[in-house]
Amino acid sequence: MASTSCWFLFFASVWWLPPMLAGAEEQQGEGCSAKRCGNITISDPFWLADQEAARSCGSQDYEVTCHNNRFPGLRSSVPGSSGFAIIDISYEEKSLRVVDRGHLELLQASEGCQGMILNTSVKLAEPFRIDPGNLNLILYNCTEEAAVAAAARRDRELMQTSLRCGNKSKMFVRTGVRYDVTGNYGRYALEGCDAVVTPVLGSSSGQTNASDYEQLINDGFLLSWDPLPLAAPALRIMLV
Ligand SMILES: *[C@@H]1O[C@H](CO)[C@@H](O)[C@H](O)[C@H]1NC(C)=O
Ligand SMILES: *[C@@H]1O[C@H](CO)[C@@H](O)[C@H](O)[C@H]1NC(C)=O
Ligand SMILES: *[C@@H]1O[C@H](CO)[C@@H](O)[C@H](O)[C@H]1NC(C)=O
Ligand SMILES: *[C@@H]1O[C@H](CO)[C@@H](O)[C@H](O)[C@H]1NC(C)=O
Ligand SMILES: *[C@@H]1O[C@H](CO)[C@@H](O)[C@H](O)[C@H]1NC(C)=O
Repeated sequence: MASTSCWFLFFASVWWLPPMLAGAEEQQGEGCSAKRCGNITISDPFWLADQEAARSCGSQDYEVTCHNNRFPGLRSSVPGSSGFAIIDISYEEKSLRVVDRGHLELLQASEGCQGMILNTSVKLAEPFRIDPGNLNLILYNCTEEAAVAAAARRDRELMQTSLRCGNKSKMFVRTGVRYDVTGNYGRYALEGCDAVVTPVLGSSSGQTNASDYEQLINDGFLLSWDPLPLAAPALRIMLV
């Protein structure tokens, strides 16, 4: 269902940010002006890497890469893993909507996943927080024996997918799992299955349907960011 072209259309269709504020360029510090990537204005604290100037305009955590001028991306804090595609930024609310590109790649991979799929939370840099209003989706990568056991549970919340992650793996998905501040999802563990947790937007009814997992992953989830802690670096130096 969700192919690469769907993904592109999706980006083109979800645009709803208001027009960029006049004068945003003057508000930029450190000589970095607001820039556009695709349909999104990138301004303080975010900054677009400038290949030619090769200079830094702020904290690396907020560095944004513009992918073919189609969408801005945030890096993963785990080296070598896929980061996040930004769908939308609200500078007033200090929040942004992103899609975990690692999970998107899994949906698009016809040959099954390549390498590890990571929990979304471990890939987020320090200033970013998963909005507690999100629900969670859990992907299970199971051995064949575990898949038989999982299917036998007749758990309505658990759905088998056509996704694969390795030659003999079968993947299941569970949705509607409430956000847990402590990040403990142990009670959703399935024996013989690796679990990967990713946030998804909660619907207005608070219900999600596991059969919509592709759409749910595509729609992304909300993050908020903390303002830069200005005093922190000085404090750290004093303590050393
Ligand atoms: C958003 O970008 C897409 C292509 O990237 C373009 O077709 C569309 O017109 C843009 N929408 C707005 C409101 O700028
Ligand atoms: C998925 O499960 C299969 C079967 O248990 C295993 O061989 C493979 O390494 C797993 N892949 C990931 C990414 O966990
Ligand atoms: C998958 O496993 C089968 C038999 O276990 C083997 O013949 C086949 O080459 C494997 N395919 C890949 C892509 O590893
Ligand atoms: C992802 O999180 C789940 C639940 O907390 C945990 O069981 C699992 O080991 C984690 N997976 C990875 C790859 O870290
Ligand atoms: C989920 O969606 C499927 C297909 O659209 C439907 O058959 C099923 O009844 C839905 N499940 C729930 C709990 O709403």
